Amino acid sequence: MKRTEFERRRRQLMRMVGKGGIAILPAAPVRMRSRDVEYRYRQDSDFYYLTGFAEPEAVAVLVPGRPQGEYLLFCRERHPEKELWDGRRAGQDGAVATFGADDAFPIDDIDDILPGLIEGCDRVYYTMGMYSDFDSRIADWVNSLRTGASRGLHTPTEFVALDHLLHDMRLYKSRSEISAMRKSAKVAVAAHKRAMQITRPGIHEYEVEAEFRHEFRRNSAWASYSPIVAGGANACTLHYVDNGDVLNDGDLLLIDAGCELDYYASDITRTFPVNGRFTPEQRAVYEIVLEAQLAAIDKTVRGNHWNDPHDAAVRIITRGLKKLGLLEGPPAKLIRDGAYRQFYMHRTGHWLGMDVHDVGDYKVGDEWRVLESGMVTTVEPGIYIPNKRNVPKRFRNIGVRIEDDVAITTKGPDVLSKGLMKDPDDIEAWMARA
Ligand code: GLY
Ligand code: MN
Ligand code: MN
Repeated sequence: MKRTEFERRRRQLMRMVGKGGIAILPAAPVRMRSRDVEYRYRQDSDFYYLTGFAEPEAVAVLVPGRPQGEYLLFCRERHPEKELWDGRRAGQDGAVATFGADDAFPIDDIDDILPGLIEGCDRVYYTMGMYSDFDSRIADWVNSLRTGASRGLHTPTEFVALDHLLHDMRLYKSRSEISAMRKSAKVAVAAHKRAMQITRPGIHEYEVEAEFRHEFRRNSAWASYSPIVAGGANACTLHYVDNGDVLNDGDLLLIDAGCELDYYASDITRTFPVNGRFTPEQRAVYEIVLEAQLAAIDKTVRGNHWNDPHDAAVRIITRGLKKLGLLEGPPAKLIRDGAYRQFYMHRTGHWLGMDVHDVGDYKVGDEWRVLESGMVTTVEPGIYIPNKRNVPKRFRNIGVRIEDDVAITTKGPDVLSKGLMKDPDDIEAWMARA
């Protein structure tokens, strides 16, 4: 992402915050995996969205209209010895020269500087409840002003939820964000194609997972969530991430895996036969899900409501389940009663962006949100048939989901993951080429 994009975002946010406001954003804390081993550091999405700064121990402050500088960055000081162990730091000079801060200070000086900045403002814009340690530091800084009120210190009168402003901005993707998301989807598509080609009876789910991690890393990406590689009945466990079983001849394999590239996520699911050929029952279920997915994508257009794609998918899935003999009764009643939920228990999509389940409201007041250009959503219907006595044996343990990433544009739905086949004949042909 270019530096100008981050500048544009800060300007946009500062226009909304306005004079008299101060926005404060902490970097994500470092998290421990076990004992003294850290997880690989991932910057907080909101912080990165505004700064492009990937180091921990930093705080960004925006003070619109402040004559001495509107964008301040507190960050770690340069430290040759520590950098020898842990890698380069931008330091305060880098924060200004490379990251466009108007001024930068050592993070260790924040207690001395930030209360003074808050004091000059009426409104504090901050996202409460994300990082409890930082919440209490904010409270301490404000309290230090309150206790100084008798000495003439001024305290802000309003606290505003910063996430409301920022998350609405993040919901509308710019042209460069869509392009980043297309790249992320492209890497995930290549990984899914690779997985289809190496899959055969007898290998383990984790061996297929390894193909994803290999393809992601060789493209400088990381998994954006734990890949779900679920053979046979495992596909009916929606968040199956053990990926430890052998893949059996005659079973389906459901893979839900996407990557994060340059801070943008993809989220793609395909379901295909382990041995390369769908059985008639598997194909029948698959074709219903595919029809539902295509219908839902058709509804992912400007002016429709957030729920329209879901409603379209539910109609087709309910009719399909009835045709297979898994549901009985008039479809309208089955939908009204939610009978389809035995087999389709999740929603058809979610916003996608820097986070897999990205930010942004789904409702405005009591109404579903109207879809607009620049929004990106997944479209991911599925059917999961449990191993229950009321279900014909031949359908038991079949789990199918098909998931693509779709940008809403003036020209209609733009499927960012369209490079990945999903027609059952195309899948069989691709697997036969292995
Ligand atoms: N991979 C998570 C989801 O599809 O929502
Ligand atoms: Mn997914
Ligand atoms: Mn998803």
